[in-house]
Amino acid sequence: MDKKVALVTGANGEVGHLLLDRLASKGYEVIALDIKEIDPAISIFINKSYKTDITDEASIESILKEAKPDIVFHLAAYLSTAAEKDPDLAHHVNVDGTLYLLRSAQRYSFEAKKKIIIVFPSSIAVYGLPDLTTKNSASFVSETQFTTPITIYGITKLHAENLGIYFEKYYKLLNPQQERYIDFRALRFPGLISAMTIPSGGTSDYAPEMIHTLAQGQNYESFVREDTILPFMAMPDAIKALTLIAETPKEKLSQNVYNVSSFSISAAEIAQMVIKVFPETMVGYNPDPARQKIVDSWPANINDTSARRDWGWFPDFDAKKTFENYLIPEVTKKYSGQK
Ligand SMILES: NC(=O)c1ccc[n+]([C@@H]2O[C@H](COP(=O)([O-])OP(=O)(O)OC[C@H]3O[C@@H](n4cnc5c(N)ncnc54)[C@H](O)[C@@H]3O)[C@@H](O)[C@H]2O)c1
Repeated sequence: MDKKVALVTGANGEVGHLLLDRLASKGYEVIALDIKEIDPAISIFINKSYKTDITDEASIESILKEAKPDIVFHLAAYLSTAAEKDPDLAHHVNVDGTLYLLRSAQRYSFEAKKKIIIVFPSSIAVYGLPDLTTKNSASFVSETQFTTPITIYGITKLHAENLGIYFEKYYKLLNPQQERYIDFRALRFPGLISAMTIPSGGTSDYAPEMIHTLAQGQNYESFVREDTILPFMAMPDAIKALTLIAETPKEKLSQNVYNVSSFSISAAEIAQMVIKVFPETMVGYNPDPARQKIVDSWPANINDTSARRDWGWFPDFDAKKTFENYLIPEVTKKYSGQK
């Protein structure tokens, strides 16, 4: 049987780094696309790469025609803090970029007469709880609750989800002959923590920044309060979720957008776990009011029962396993000899 072709946009990012490796080991032909040069460390997993802007629709369409992907993992985006610094650019990349990809994919798939799966990593940033009291009293937030984001990142992610659903189900609704070829699947991820890469641009980045900084023997000053609770997920679980939903038969999916969750933890609890291993280091708290406001609007827990029921989602890493079996050993290895 021919190898399945997977195109990964934003392939050079944190998620892309691990996803390319996993796709290659699963036997996919891997096509990478990023506005930046692909890190040579991950080029071994790639059959072909394109240094292209996702907002260049003509190039995206010709790449689709040349690469002929069965699946697109559409990761290219501006994350929350980076997006807040330049909302216009974030909107252009996160919304227009997604629109152009969906439109090109629909045209390409229409000509090829074959469905194309678009897997989209969305975020808990689509939620906007009005205040801390509501956050503290809300239990596990489901996909349809509190979808009133306060950040441009959350707004663009929610819009992109809805564009995907539109292209799959309602594109050119007035034309009864319209054939639709997009199969859109989105995951709402919590903050992701990778042992391999240092993140930049996310508002949940205090967690991975804390781990990577302390592991280098330095102290860390957190930009959120110690009692801040958010849901997090170890990067290997995020990769598992992306590949699992991509490979699930469509008839099993009762919705297009799924929460996926792993564990919730406070900034102080993360600090405790890491300081235990690097006792010569310290964590201080100097909350940035704007970034604190953003994390206070995100839920402490999300309800992922639909993902568990429909496509058998479950995380392999709880908090203890994430820190003790994944993060601490990997970051210790990464920075050994640097202190
Ligand atoms: N990291 C997290 O905690 C997290 C949580 C929830 C959702 N997500 C989503 O997962 C996806 C990947 O996140 P990540 O952590 O790897 O982000 P990242 O910032 O590490 O990577 C994003 C990649 O997109 C590329 N990119 C940016 N603008 C582009 C453009 N115009 N054209 C082509 N490529 C462009 C960047 O060069 C970068 O390599 C994003 O869509 C993000 O919103 C991430």
